Amino acid sequence: MKTTTQHLFFIMALTAAKTMLTLSHGSDVITVVVSEGDNAILPCSLSNNQNIVQKLFDWKKYDKEVFLYDAGVHYNNGRDGQDELFQGRVFHFPQHLKFGNASIVIKNTKVTDSGDYTCNFPHLEPRQIFHIKLIVEPILKDRSEEMAIAVREPYTRLLGATENGVLLQCEVRDAYPKPKVEWQDSDGIVLSAEDPQVSERRGHFNVILRTTVTKTATNCFFCEVKQDDIGHVVNASIIVPEKLFEDKSCQVAHAWIGGWFLGVLSVAVFAALALFVRRVWKKGSQLEDSFSI
Ligand SMILES: *[C@@H]1O[C@H](CO)[C@@H](O)[C@H](O)[C@H]1NC(C)=O
Ligand SMILES: *[C@@H]1O[C@H](CO)[C@@H](O)[C@H](O)[C@H]1NC(C)=O
Repeated sequence: MKTTTQHLFFIMALTAAKTMLTLSHGSDVITVVVSEGDNAILPCSLSNNQNIVQKLFDWKKYDKEVFLYDAGVHYNNGRDGQDELFQGRVFHFPQHLKFGNASIVIKNTKVTDSGDYTCNFPHLEPRQIFHIKLIVEPILKDRSEEMAIAVREPYTRLLGATENGVLLQCEVRDAYPKPKVEWQDSDGIVLSAEDPQVSERRGHFNVILRTTVTKTATNCFFCEVKQDDIGHVVNASIIVPEKLFEDKSCQVAHAWIGGWFLGVLSVAVFAALALFVRRVWKKGSQLEDSFSI
C-alpha cells in the first residue's frame, strides 16, 4: 500500500500535466499524450540524420535517469544508473540510430510518468537538447488496490417497498476526493434518483443516494461511485427480491379479500358449530325425556 504523500503527488502530477497541455503550444516543446497503460513514443531525432550508433545520448525526466545510450551500451544491456521507476519499461529503436533517431518508447505508462523529459546529446557540436512533455491521462478503473485514498465499495441497502416501487439506498463514507454517486440498472443505464445527501467532515465526504426502482429486465441494480480526479471507479450491486415488485395496491386487495373470506369462513364455522351443539343438546334433552317416560 502506497503512502498518502505519493497519492497527493499523483494528483499534483495530474494537475500539472493538465496545465502543461494548455501551456505547451507555440513552444519548441513536443507534447505527447497517451492513455494510462498505453505505450508512449518520445520522439528525438537529429535534423541532419547523422548516424548516432557510436554516439552518446541521455534521456532524463527532470534529474531522473530514464535511458542512456553510449555507443551500443545502455540500460537494457548491462549499464546501471537507470532510475528504478523506468527499469524494464524503456526501449530505444536500434535500427533507427543510423538515421539520427534517438526516440524511446515507455511501455505500460503510468499517470506518474507524466512530466518533462529531455533528450540530450552532450558531446555533439553544437550540443543538442530536445524537450518533450509527456501527459499520461488516467483511465477510469478500480484503484482500490493501488491507492489508499480510493474509496471502497459503497454500502447498498433496500429500505422498503412503496406503491411507486422499491426504495434503494447507496451510502459512501469518508471519501476524498469528493465522489460522484449514481444508481444504474444492470445495463449501466443511469437511474433518476433523489438529490444526494452530502455531508462533509474534515474534507472527507459522506454521500447518501436514494432511488425508487420498478421492475426491469433483471432485478439487479448497481450503485457506482466515481472519483474522477484520481480515475477511480467502484460499484456495489443489490438484488431486489422479486416479490417486492408485486403491486402494493394489488397486495392490499388480496389481503382484504383474503380477510373477508376468512371472516365469512369463521362465521360459517361458528354457525355450523352452534347448530351442531344445539342439535346435540336437543338430542340430549330428547333422550332425557325418553328416560323420564
Ligand atoms: C524515429 O523512430 C520512431 C520509432 O520508430 C518513429 O516513431 C519516429 O517517427 C522516427 N522519427 C523520424 C524523424 O523518423
Ligand atoms: C461493477 O464493477 C465490476 C468490477 O469492477 C465490473 O466488472 C462491472 O462491469 C461493474 N458494473 C457496472 C454496472 O458498472
